[in-house]
Amino acid sequence: MPAVISFVSTKGGVGKTTVAANLGGLLAAFGLKVLAIDADVQPSLSKFFPVHYRSPRGLSAVVTSGGNPADDCISRTIFSNLDLVYSDTPDAGLQAWLNRREDRLMILRRAMQSPLMEAYDVVLIDTQGAVGELQKSAAMAANVMVSPVKPDALSAGEFATGTIAMLDELNRLADFGESFRSGDLLALINAHERTTNARALSAVLRQRFADHAKVRILDTVVPSAAAYCAAATARIPVHDFDRRRQFDNSAWNVMHRLAWELFPSLANVYAGAPRRTRGDVGTGDERTGDGGQGAVA
Ligand SMILES: Nc1ncnc2c1ncn2[C@@H]1O[C@H](COP(=O)(O)OP(=O)(O)OP(=O)(O)O)[C@@H](O)[C@H]1O
Ligand SMILES: [Mg+2]
Repeated sequence: MPAVISFVSTKGGVGKTTVAANLGGLLAAFGLKVLAIDADVQPSLSKFFPVHYRSPRGLSAVVTSGGNPADDCISRTIFSNLDLVYSDTPDAGLQAWLNRREDRLMILRRAMQSPLMEAYDVVLIDTQGAVGELQKSAAMAANVMVSPVKPDALSAGEFATGTIAMLDELNRLADFGESFRSGDLLALINAHERTTNARALSAVLRQRFADHAKVRILDTVVPSAAAYCAAATARIPVHDFDRRRQFDNSAWNVMHRLAWELFPSLANVYAGAPRRTRGDVGTGDERTGDGGQGAVA
């Protein structure tokens, strides 16, 4: 079964879609089979990359099938290895449908175990920056959640209260059985400006969650850079837009560092030089013997 990462935060505009799309683009360029699922009812991941085959159905078919989707909901982007489930529910219909289901938290997790997913190494699920049943279902489907946090007072504050409250709420059911436990939440400091204020807030976040049982702040920091917006406009993965190897904080280097931190077994794999095969992700790193410390293990 694929390694599943959901991008969640109760705050909007922190970079979920940007990071999900670009990580997907990079992992696909590594040679992994990647499925990007747009579980945001205001579609943006759906429009991020050009699509050369648009399937008749999308997210609502995945959800309303109760987690047993057929292959008519998988679109193909122009990038090899990168497929898409687009968001096709502009209204609140899907959230309302979920609200009526007792098993709503488990529906996307079930979908991740469906035969359709066997073709993929990695599934990335993007969600809307708000609290809702679809977001929670996406959170419960994941091996880990990645939550971008901008190092400004509003975003950091909302992360420390809103997003962490959602994590706590998800795990309140865990007392009833391990299957109700969510994966860990990895915070990614994103759009970091080179200011004293941003550095101070990042340090506070690291300190505050240093001993948290289910939350970790990733070492990789994504700087604020025009390349992220420009690559989105050009509709190409940012590692392909800013390919400067010699500049430590170029998008090429930052995105590689992020992929390697999430999947230690991919360390030193580069875009365009794929040497991975199916089954090399999601199991920790046997070769370096890190005992499965890999973020998505
Ligand atoms: N590292 C970065 N540097 C500069 N701009 C960034 C960076 N990351 C994201 N952005 C910009 O911030 C804006 C919001 O990003 P994005 O849409 O990915 O956030 P989001 O969390 O998905 O928002 P929503 O909750 O509305 O779905 C976009 O214009 C994006 O280009
Ligand atoms: Mg988004």
